[in-house]
Amino acid sequence: MNTDDVLGKAPLFAALDREGAAALRTSVTEVKISKGQTLFREGETGDRLYVVLEGKIKLSRTAPDGRENLLSVLGPGEMFGELSLFDPRPRTATATGLTDARLAGLGHDDLRPWLTGRPEVALHLLRALAQRLRRTNDVLADLVFTDVPGRVAKALLDLAEKFGHRAEDGMRVHHDLTQEELAQLVGASRETVNKALADFAQRGWLRIEGRAVVILDMERLYNRSR
Ligand code: CMP
Repeated sequence: MNTDDVLGKAPLFAALDREGAAALRTSVTEVKISKGQTLFREGETGDRLYVVLEGKIKLSRTAPDGRENLLSVLGPGEMFGELSLFDPRPRTATATGLTDARLAGLGHDDLRPWLTGRPEVALHLLRALAQRLRRTNDVLADLVFTDVPGRVAKALLDLAEKFGHRAEDGMRVHHDLTQEELAQLVGASRETVNKALADFAQRGWLRIEGRAVVILDMERLYNRSR
């Protein structure tokens, strides 16, 4: 997909007609980061938001004792770094390349006139924020009410929705996460998450292939996530 097609899917641009999108596009600067490179850190001041054009980005937070929690894995068309636009305070998470990645960066100052001048842009951004709050509420409820295998199943289905491709015998999800990172996303220890994955594999629901899984029985995995 080319840059304009990917940007067109992002909440900011989806609200605009051709001319509007072309005008906003002039404020975009492209940034490339390599796998493992940090774009910004939690606590820093931030003045830009980003749309992923290519590759994957992980958003994480670090506890005072050094443990990490993954908030989300983002792929093409997804936006991040907008919280400090609406609420000018430090970055709430660290953004790191999970793969080599290409991003579109937009300065908060360049964006503000669009928010005030084009209500449809503000509405689309609010919608994106509302969707994130819904998802965060779901994640929070799952942490309290759902066991680790259920959370693993749900995380895999979420990743499948974003990164899944039909394969011969199922849905191939190349998530690029290490076992440790998958555990950080689920909010459990690596051992417990591995045990759940091994159990799913043994039941024939999925096959593990390095930093990817092939989901063989979507329905059973879905039922286990509920
Ligand atoms: P900002 O705080 O500017 O920088 C970190 C970004 O991570 C933040 O904006 C959001 O875009 C994003 N972010 C923060 N919390 C979450 C979350 N729970 N789920 C998805 N993205 C998030």
